[in-house]
Amino acid sequence: MDADAILAALFTEQGRTDPYPFYTALHELGRISSVTPAAASYVAVVNGYDQVDQVLRDPAFLKQPGRADWEEHPVLAVLQRSMMFSNPPEHAHRRKVFQQVFTPRRVAELEPKIHQIVGKLLDRMAELGDGGAPVDFISEFAYPLPTQVVGELLGIPLDDLGWFRERVERIDAYLDLAGKTPEILAAADAAATELSEYYAGLIAQRRADPLDDLVSALVQAMDAGDEPLTDPELVSNLVVLFNASFVTTINLLGNGLPPLLARPDLVEALPGDAALASACVEEVLRYDSSVQFLARAASVDTVVGELPIVAGSNVLLLLGAANRDPRRYPDPDAFDPSRPDIKPVSFGAGAHYCLGAALSRAEGRIAFQGLFERFPSLSLATEPVRSEQFLLRGYSEIPVVLNAS
Ligand code: HEM
Repeated sequence: MDADAILAALFTEQGRTDPYPFYTALHELGRISSVTPAAASYVAVVNGYDQVDQVLRDPAFLKQPGRADWEEHPVLAVLQRSMMFSNPPEHAHRRKVFQQVFTPRRVAELEPKIHQIVGKLLDRMAELGDGGAPVDFISEFAYPLPTQVVGELLGIPLDDLGWFRERVERIDAYLDLAGKTPEILAAADAAATELSEYYAGLIAQRRADPLDDLVSALVQAMDAGDEPLTDPELVSNLVVLFNASFVTTINLLGNGLPPLLARPDLVEALPGDAALASACVEEVLRYDSSVQFLARAASVDTVVGELPIVAGSNVLLLLGAANRDPRRYPDPDAFDPSRPDIKPVSFGAGAHYCLGAALSRAEGRIAFQGLFERFPSLSLATEPVRSEQFLLRGYSEIPVVLNAS
């Protein structure tokens, strides 16, 4: 199979369900392969760990320019004005105020709340699974946990959170490679408009009446700063922050459960060992990354792994493949939290490195420790069901039985 055929296969149902054999085939071809530009116009696909890391850290590689008509589409305008989709000089400006207030201290302060949310969700699972009834781990635990945590972080009332899911998912559907149809764009436009109105209202409330939450801190830092963000920039960043935090963390929890359950020694040891829990979270991120790929455009003629890349061309960065590069991780397809130096590229690298990495690591650690402490003999009830997305890889259902013994 050449790289064109592998790339085409990755975007079929077979590739989406299990991309790993295709990643192995790419690693056998090299660290980066040129491909014939098709619809998405990538000239190369990058699968080597060092090469993915290099491109992400290289200021010569930028986010791809948005569509020419971005101002006419609310979702494109939101994305374009957010830190996630911007380039220098706007990027640093749009990220700065978030970095000032979304600090490690704020994450540490959220930890007791995360424990509390985990405890309540486990109580609910115990009720539902009473008498051996199967419970869906995704809908009862992996979905509500990050939603409630980001709700707590941003100061969004619990009752409003249900409203977010469908809108956030419509934007994610547009971001997937298969999502660029006019219907999906129209649905994402409507979602972006409604979310923007919601956040504009929240910003106005917190400006008038600050609370101890991130939005109040952002408004204060922004209004006191020398180069304040505009309100549309703040709204866009908030829409993107919620989106970035949500399905990614659901998938960290979902992708972690089956490989952990396959290792009863880890399930037993995890509750009493925070360092092991952290290592398990890193290995889950490496083994089955929530984000499978990113893209960048070369701003100058350059070279990646001996392949010349001409200015203006796009490259596809396969994070999920980089994390299983046999040159970086011996026996890459084995799930092994004791392997040394686990540093997955699942949170990206360089200027756009994930702002929520510390928060989602804390959620993963607290969630798996709490889950296995409460239900030490939890097991799969039936085969988990993969979700339809490839960009954001995860499960849509993982039915479990709580006390299999
Ligand atoms: C397991 C969970 C998560 C994964 C795998 C993940 C992954 C990523 C990746 C790969 C990027 C880089 C995008 C790029 O370079 O183009 C990113 C950026 C970002 N993430 Fe996360 N993320 C996670 C959780 C979160 C959480 C919990 C939050 C917020 C509460 C968050 C907020 C952001 C933001 C705001 C950016 C954009 C940063 C920028 O462009 O400067 N993420 N994330």
